[in-house]
Amino acid sequence: MTGTPPPAPAESGRPRERLDGPAKVAGRAPYAYEQPVEDPLFLFPVRSTIARGRVRWVDTEEAEAVPGVVAVLTHLNAPRLASRDDLELWVLQDDEVRHHGQFVGAVIAGTPEVARHAASLVKVEYQREWHDVVLRADHPERYRPDHVNPSFDTDTSHGDVDGALADAAATVDQTYRTPVQHHVPMEPHTTVVRWPGAADLGAVAMYDSNQGVSPIRKVLAPLLDLDPEQLWIHSPHVGGAFGSKASPKAHHVLTALAARLVPGRPVKCALTRQQMFGNAGHRTPTIQRVRLGADRRGRLTAIAHDVVEHTARFKEFAEQTAVATRTMYAAEHRRTTHRLVPLDVPAPVIMRAPGEAPGMFALESAMDELAVALGMDPVELRIRNEPDADPESGLPFSTRHLARCLREGATRFGWADRPPAGQGRRDGDWLVGVGMAASTYPLFPQQGSRARIRALPDGRRQVEIAASDLGTGTWTALTQIAADALAVPAEAVDLVIGDSALPATVGAGGSSGLSIWGTTVVAAARAFRDRHGDDPPAGAEVVGELPENTAVGRYALHAFGAQFAEVRVDAVTGEIRVPRMVGVFDVGRVINPRTARSQLMGGMTMGLSMALHEESVVDPRFGHVVNGDYAGYHIPTNADVGDIDVSWLDEPDPLYNPMGSKGIGEIGIVGTAAAVANAVWHATGVRVRDVPITPDRLL
Ligand code: MOS
Repeated sequence: MTGTPPPAPAESGRPRERLDGPAKVAGRAPYAYEQPVEDPLFLFPVRSTIARGRVRWVDTEEAEAVPGVVAVLTHLNAPRLASRDDLELWVLQDDEVRHHGQFVGAVIAGTPEVARHAASLVKVEYQREWHDVVLRADHPERYRPDHVNPSFDTDTSHGDVDGALADAAATVDQTYRTPVQHHVPMEPHTTVVRWPGAADLGAVAMYDSNQGVSPIRKVLAPLLDLDPEQLWIHSPHVGGAFGSKASPKAHHVLTALAARLVPGRPVKCALTRQQMFGNAGHRTPTIQRVRLGADRRGRLTAIAHDVVEHTARFKEFAEQTAVATRTMYAAEHRRTTHRLVPLDVPAPVIMRAPGEAPGMFALESAMDELAVALGMDPVELRIRNEPDADPESGLPFSTRHLARCLREGATRFGWADRPPAGQGRRDGDWLVGVGMAASTYPLFPQQGSRARIRALPDGRRQVEIAASDLGTGTWTALTQIAADALAVPAEAVDLVIGDSALPATVGAGGSSGLSIWGTTVVAAARAFRDRHGDDPPAGAEVVGELPENTAVGRYALHAFGAQFAEVRVDAVTGEIRVPRMVGVFDVGRVINPRTARSQLMGGMTMGLSMALHEESVVDPRFGHVVNGDYAGYHIPTNADVGDIDVSWLDEPDPLYNPMGSKGIGEIGIVGTAAAVANAVWHATGVRVRDVPITPDRLL
């Protein structure tokens, strides 16, 4: 081990309330759609009603005749885009329909109501072609992608899995499935674009809800044939995103094209909840075969995880579903594979622990099945298979305290008091059971991040970086990091984020936002203090850059955790309740315990949601999601969430970043669905390998 843990700092570790909280509750923190703009117009899209084919003709006459309509946009009159590289963003550039709900037009009008009404009057005739939206493991078009998100190997293979399975004392060979899921953030995808007027030399202005102004601008500016500084994106407050706002989407392009037709007038677009189920990304469904082999003492000899998932025919996204399996347990013989089926669906994208969440549902369910086959405590089975080093790369872990998470979680949960496996307790009509699973999440190294620090006249420090706060606490935690790095109180730091005029950085994603921004701010603060000392003159300024992460390639960098759940299943109706969950995490030093607890609790709630609620039902006849709203797409409400006990080990990671932290954004989700499914089995004896576990699957 190299490096030393940083000294205990003053601000990091303090449970601060959100600095943006008062402004938010007082309505002084505008979201994209609420930004005050002068004389706006409103856009409503026209969406295709077929999944594949061509637009034969469009009749816009009736829509154009509606009083208040300013323009109707179709592929026939839309301004041209500069690049055809990404067909998801190739909006209104040709007559081709690539998925149901694709934008085939838009109405711009003086009010949102008029735009919506007029959009319903646009007549489109299609030349319909055969389509396919159904994922099957043996699909004839199945192929092997070059890599999986973001750049992991598609397949890995070590030793002889089939031979080891043939010799194993106990084996599991099962197939697990997860459905199409949607991100459903509270704040819909919204953007407001103003193209400069004739007499106006300014940049194109975009008030937007996104996960990173820098990466969004990097894609949109060249597509719109603009220099980066000709596109200004402002996104200080975001009401949830979960991966769906990490990259530009078709509505950005549609709104920009519309704004170009009406220079000087801001054009506002807010997708409806229903539109978000066709135009804002989704998680691929997965079909996962997991095979495990172990000796009599529960030592794994073979682990195989073979995944089939879908992608859009017009744009590849390969979710990294089996990647976590490469890190979890020691075993000599192992393999992981990913295969894609191209379908006529919208483009899938990262969503709430992409890969790790569905993949660990399968692996951790299979581990439970193996524990049953061996007659062994599933906690002990996992501890027995802890690797000394990363099993596939051979690299030492920066830190790995999974066994401690498992033991502390078991104690906090009261695991030792559970009834024997397969014999849940009965409480009236309720069958009561408990289950557990492990969690992991990778720590991503990222590049290209800068921050500026400036001394203000009143002695305060302004810290500028184009970071994002998705509602998770960046404003607060990054201020705390900056305060420590500058050796000033948090009250003396003015953090400015969410604006593309600030020094560019990475977006919020991969649970690595705070880590990368924090490392950048620490580097900038060091440079600032070296240059100007701790009593700098007003106006003193330094721009700092993210240094190279020297741990990358030398250490395996991951967060870990343990999940425990109690479930109650109504023996008559199959209704499932989850009165309590316990999560213990190895996430390095926690910068802000208050917001961190909230994120981990939110993550566990999303895992519970995956286990019991979330499923987008796609109609194979038309290719659209039939339950695309909050009434049909179930997520947990307060009444569905019981007691969630979240804690973490006090174990800084000395190697990943100077704060000693690991990511916390997504690990809370990972493993939770398996813990719930394993508890359902413990309560009922029914092993459900398809989420969501709805009552009909138990009866
Ligand atoms: Mo998160 S799904 O990496 O935005």
